[in-house]
Amino acid sequence: MANVAVIGAQWGDEGKGKVVDLFSRDADIVVRFQGGNNAGHTLVVDGEKTVLHLIPSGALHPNKLCIIGNGVVVDPQVLLEEIRGLKERGYLKDDSLLKISEQAHLIMPYHKSVDQARERLRGKGKIGTTGRGIGPTYEDKVARVGIRFVDLLDEKTFKEKLKHNIEEKNIYLKAILKEKTLDFRSIYETYCRYRDTLEGYVADTALLLHREIKAGKKVLFGGAQGTLLDVDHGTYPFVTSSNAVIGGVCTRAGIGPRSIQEIIGISKAYTTRVGSGPFPTELTGAEGEKLKYDGDEFGATTGRPRRCGWFDAVGARYAVRINGMTGIALTKLDVLTGFKTIKILEQAEPAWEELEGWDTQISGAKELSDLPASAQRYVRRLEEILETELVLVSIGPSRDQTIMLRNPFR
Ligand code: IMP
Repeated sequence: MANVAVIGAQWGDEGKGKVVDLFSRDADIVVRFQGGNNAGHTLVVDGEKTVLHLIPSGALHPNKLCIIGNGVVVDPQVLLEEIRGLKERGYLKDDSLLKISEQAHLIMPYHKSVDQARERLRGKGKIGTTGRGIGPTYEDKVARVGIRFVDLLDEKTFKEKLKHNIEEKNIYLKAILKEKTLDFRSIYETYCRYRDTLEGYVADTALLLHREIKAGKKVLFGGAQGTLLDVDHGTYPFVTSSNAVIGGVCTRAGIGPRSIQEIIGISKAYTTRVGSGPFPTELTGAEGEKLKYDGDEFGATTGRPRRCGWFDAVGARYAVRINGMTGIALTKLDVLTGFKTIKILEQAEPAWEELEGWDTQISGAKELSDLPASAQRYVRRLEEILETELVLVSIGPSRDQTIMLRNPFR
């Protein structure tokens, strides 16, 4: 029985949301295992746009169990808003279909204050974080002072941990970051209210997954961010604070590597990056602007414009190697329509390969053979460079704007 992991092969925003949504049809369980609401997955279902930051997109399909794993950092306010939003639109009718790991760490108001204040102080050298408190929450996790859902559920433990943390963080905020301090009582009361609403969703999700996998259920693991933003394997220090690569699935969902049979890398037909850091194929002129506007390249979380460039085959090949990808889903091919020629970066010392572009709209194509010959040559060339089979090509935001070449669940 195949369990499938979907991993970003670039700097995030590869269109994982759409692919996870498509593959969710064939899965019984959909798991989010790392990151937090720094991610934003945009989905278009029946013309209606939904942006999800924490809840796996399996929630948009009936009867899928959605799991937020132990490696996710959760801002409870954002999670509650997302639950409310989904319910209002007729999704998530059955509360037993959402489970949050009791070991997942909570993003606290001081994490957000520290994240934002540090970025301000870094000035030109800033990472360009999303300001959602992601880094400081993972720091506390590793420093063993973080607050997990299991701590929140125990009133005494929660109070003690929160007191200790606020005392320490207030000194840091005031003396080092020159920021406003935070009030224990109001945070305590707010989080107790969050607890009362979220309590019912908290579970031992690693045990649950183990049982379900043993029973033959099909699991889809949907990553956030991408390989080049991974804290170990990305463009450090311009990275996020978690493992977005395949290894993260094991540690951050609590399963063994043999429970994953397919590793599908998601890559755009070009490249984007949001935030600071190196970007060898970046296009700063008119071509970059065309990609930005045709591709609607504005962050789903922060609204920031994304930096755009040609396909970076060096980065993508690296992602294939680090993750041992078994297939590639190529997204947003339609955005390349209208370029006379398209470049692929072949080596880090820019070595451009130039291919012919195409003019006709391609979003209605059903088969690869429906595409203009130059578009077919472009995707086949990428497949060749990556030495990995293409499993799908996405040519628009809707579910039906997809050329499925191989379904990894079948
Ligand atoms: P953080 O994850 O908010 O700490 O941000 C660290 C870096 O990762 C910044 O460059 C962000 O722009 C980037 N980043 C974080 N999440 C995403 C994402 O979901 N898509 C793209 N970039 C992201």
